Amino acid sequence: MSSKLTSAWRALFGDSARAFGSLSVILLLCLAVVPAKDHFREWTGYQAGYLRYIANRGDAATLKRRFEGGIQQTWLPAIDVVDRCTTCHVALTATSLDRNGPQPYRPHPVIPHKLDQFGCVLCHRGQGVATSVKEAHNSTLAWEQPILPAQYIESGCGQCHQNKLTGTPQLNQGRQLLGEYGCVHCHTLNLADGNKIAPADHPPLLTHIAESHINAEANAV
Ligand code: HEC
Ligand code: HEC
Ligand code: HEC
Ligand code: HEC
Repeated sequence: MSSKLTSAWRALFGDSARAFGSLSVILLLCLAVVPAKDHFREWTGYQAGYLRYIANRGDAATLKRRFEGGIQQTWLPAIDVVDRCTTCHVALTATSLDRNGPQPYRPHPVIPHKLDQFGCVLCHRGQGVATSVKEAHNSTLAWEQPILPAQYIESGCGQCHQNKLTGTPQLNQGRQLLGEYGCVHCHTLNLADGNKIAPADHPPLLTHIAESHINAEANAV
């Protein structure tokens, strides 16, 4: 045993050239393994946590069967969607789980769309391809945006829906107020079809004031 070890030691570190070569390989491995480990640990941790979370439930077997490990993604090339949020949010369709349970293991609230119809980011924002919480939720990239706080989620529906929806009272009211208070005289707000929200207030025309500077009589009429 010890003679085998000695000969292995000689083969790897016997002279300075061998030692240099072996150490370089070891260093390279360390450099490669450390970031890779950090990268994988986070989502693998959430998936392992999920299996622990459901382990003692009556329906554990069913939930486990539905669970898919590894990186999950919704890929819709036609609309440029690559969303991996479901890698951690593993229980979105597990409706038997507690709606107020710990995240990321809550089932998704019922919405009028299928969750894989257009991914997650179209409604929630965030960085779809990311597999760490920091990058997925708090993207600082110029072309991606951090996830919307839940209280603003209705604004996501407004990107596609033009007309009032019963499920989006805040969005409906917001759009109405922007017209009513005339904000849209100055702020351009595009609707899904490319048209703009029209003002619904009727401010007095100020053309006669402009004219009064040129022609003092115009104001007197
Ligand atoms: C690496 C795992 C991971 C990924 C990837 C991930 N999440 Fe999360 N998510 C979590 C965790 C953990 C929480 C609960 C703690 C928190 O809010 O940070 C959470 C919470 C949330 C919440 C609730 C926030 C609130 O205010 O209650 C939303 C919404 C959400 N995630 C959306 C997304 C979307 C959209 C994506 C993809 C762009 C995504 N997540 C990707 C782990 C993840
Ligand atoms: C059609 C729009 C839409 C899509 C697509 C969508 N969501 Fe949501 N999501 C919502 C709405 C609306 C809510 C409810 C917000 C609220 O009122 O709290 C929500 C809530 C959530 C929450 C918070 C749940 C809670 O109760 O704390 C998470 C996490 C979440 N969504 C993740 C996702 C993930 C991951 C995807 C992609 C698989 C996704 N959503 C796709 C609209 C959407
Ligand atoms: C990416 C675009 C898109 C987003 C975002 C979106 N929808 Fe839709 N929605 C559609 C399309 C397209 C239809 C037509 C039917 C279909 O394809 O599902 C539709 C249909 C509907 C319908 C049924 C038909 C109708 O018009 O009454 C409801 C209700 C609805 N969406 C509500 C919502 C809500 C609430 C949200 C936000 C949580 C939302 N949608 C987000 C595109 C979108
Ligand atoms: C007379 C024109 C005018 C009207 C009417 C107007 N705004 Fe503005 N608004 C501006 C200008 C100009 C700025 C930019 C000010 C600055 O950057 O210093 C601004 C800035 C804002 C901002 C900050 C935007 C940002 O990116 O920081 C918000 C929010 C806003 N307005 C909302 C409203 C709302 C809501 C209404 C209606 C109740 C409204 N505005 C009506 C001219 C207007």
